[in-house]
Amino acid sequence: MCGIVGYVGPRAARPLLFAGLQKLEYRGYDSAGISVLEEGRIDSVRAVGNLSALRAALEARVEANGGLAEAAPGRAAAPVLAQAPVALAEAPVANTGIGHTRWATHGRVTEENAHPHYDNTDRVHIVVNGIVENYVALKDRLLAEGARFTSETDAEVIAHLVAHFNTDGLVDAVRKAYAELRGHYAFVAMSAEEPGLLVGARKECPLIIGRGEGEQYIASAIPAFLRETRHVQYIGDDEIVVLRPDEVEFQTAAGEVLARDVVEIDWDADTAEKQGYETFMLKEIHEQADAVAETIGERAAHEDSIDLGDLEAIDDELLRTARRIVVVACGTSYHAGLIGRYSIEEWARMPVEVDIASEYRYRNPVIGPGDLVVGISQSGETADTLAAMRTARSRGASVLAITNIMGSQITRESDGVLYTRAGLEIGVAATKTFVSQVAVMYLLALRLAELRGHLEPGSLARAITEVKRLPHLIAEMLEHGLAGLSDIADAHAGAEFFLYIGRHVGLPVALEGALKLKEISYIATDAYAAGEMKHGPIALLDDSTPVVVVATQSPVLEKVISNIQEVRARGARVIAVASEGDEQIAQHADEVIRVPRTEWMLAPLLAVIPLQLLAYHIADIDGKDVDQPRNLAKTVTVE
Ligand code: G6P
Repeated sequence: MCGIVGYVGPRAARPLLFAGLQKLEYRGYDSAGISVLEEGRIDSVRAVGNLSALRAALEARVEANGGLAEAAPGRAAAPVLAQAPVALAEAPVANTGIGHTRWATHGRVTEENAHPHYDNTDRVHIVVNGIVENYVALKDRLLAEGARFTSETDAEVIAHLVAHFNTDGLVDAVRKAYAELRGHYAFVAMSAEEPGLLVGARKECPLIIGRGEGEQYIASAIPAFLRETRHVQYIGDDEIVVLRPDEVEFQTAAGEVLARDVVEIDWDADTAEKQGYETFMLKEIHEQADAVAETIGERAAHEDSIDLGDLEAIDDELLRTARRIVVVACGTSYHAGLIGRYSIEEWARMPVEVDIASEYRYRNPVIGPGDLVVGISQSGETADTLAAMRTARSRGASVLAITNIMGSQITRESDGVLYTRAGLEIGVAATKTFVSQVAVMYLLALRLAELRGHLEPGSLARAITEVKRLPHLIAEMLEHGLAGLSDIADAHAGAEFFLYIGRHVGLPVALEGALKLKEISYIATDAYAAGEMKHGPIALLDDSTPVVVVATQSPVLEKVISNIQEVRARGARVIAVASEGDEQIAQHADEVIRVPRTEWMLAPLLAVIPLQLLAYHIADIDGKDVDQPRNLAKTVTVE
């Protein structure tokens, strides 16, 4: 997925933009470029390949120009991209600029197709993420008007279109261009005529403002500017944003000015670093104890009561009287919803439905006043989840969002928000956000049980105590408990197919374990309710098939053991995830991974962690890029 970064302020833009692009590298890219406004003209450098190619091209450019901007007289070109460029700025500083990492969609991987794109006068430059669906029609029109295209991309039409309308200033031009574009995209434009100005527009693709003192950033993801500021503002869908060093103005597409709060995020810049881990995913797996501890925090401070804080329009009365809960989510978040269903049904005795958002949105769901819809999305931007929530809300249901991102789109489209507090997650495969979502579902279930009087006080207090122990149990397990995992991964890394099975609360864990493995290793996996084995999947088994069985303690453990026997009778090899102290499993399984003992309802949150690591080790053995698996994106803002 592409990355955008823009800067306007008193400092030299190139090093800041380059540093921003480095922070977006994890999103994957095949070419990159930077444009800065310098002495009345826009200087643009683009390169195919990774950022070292762009760095070399930038340095060569500065050298060729006799040391423009940041390069002080007599200095080698290297400082162009060094930090603290202000001190070097003896020549006029290029302090308005945009940068981009491109992941090819329309058009091959070439320098011409890399961004920034520009118009024929070279006075308007733009960077774009997403897709312009009506670019063919627009291109034909612009060609007829004399525009000359230099790339094969859909994005270039935006540069020509903005330039075409650029008679009354860039803001007006962007607004007029925006009105003609169809698709889903985010772009940032700059004009040689207006130094100190960037104009961004957002349609479905993420774009975020970073607020500094006398300087502003715009980017497709927060890590791009997290070293410089933690004050952010989210640009809403269909909005245009105008950045000048001292102010940022949000407008509707029609030009109406909007008020927008500044949110201070509590992630520090180090969270965007690997901190000694080989990958972000591995680091994030090891941050799960903290993520769950933060997420539970003061919400479980009382012995016998859960405090969910102010959920705005989702008040206690609504929680007490809601007819049922409908969870909508995608991917890993959907699995968190599935785990939540068991706890809400068991503890609060409420009916719960859990649906994949992309399915729900196109059904004609029976939903209305009195129903509480819970939308789960770590990014808060998933198009299908937002659409499913809108459908439910438009029919009168109340909507509660669970997300990790303050101020994200989901928070603006719901009646109340419960935040996970996992911190920044960079690995595409969700890990710490998932366990945090599960923790929130437990808290919500306990709060519902409390308000509805379905758990007697002793049981409620016991469950709360056990929830609070989870971070400790995770930390223990990660530190001491999983030593044998890499051997298990070694033994099975060559397998072409893995089957995951589980029952009851173990089923969502099986689904999530299988998803993790296929996401990052590209090995085929299937996950099934163990009780369904004999209705199909058992036909897949032979002696080369590893079968991962989630066999933590639960009311159906005996049944799971019968399923293990079915599997072994077909010669397949069983890797069981079992609770500590459960000795009988060892007699049935070929390999056993132990997780700490807890209340059976809470076991999924622990059991998923070795499966994340199993997937990780297998992908690592295969040499896969676990942080940036092929074809996948962290935030899916399109259908
Ligand atoms: C993408 C991510 C997954 C995530 C899913 C839903 O597929 O790669 O990790 O589970 O989207 O994302 P959300 O942000 O809504 O939780």
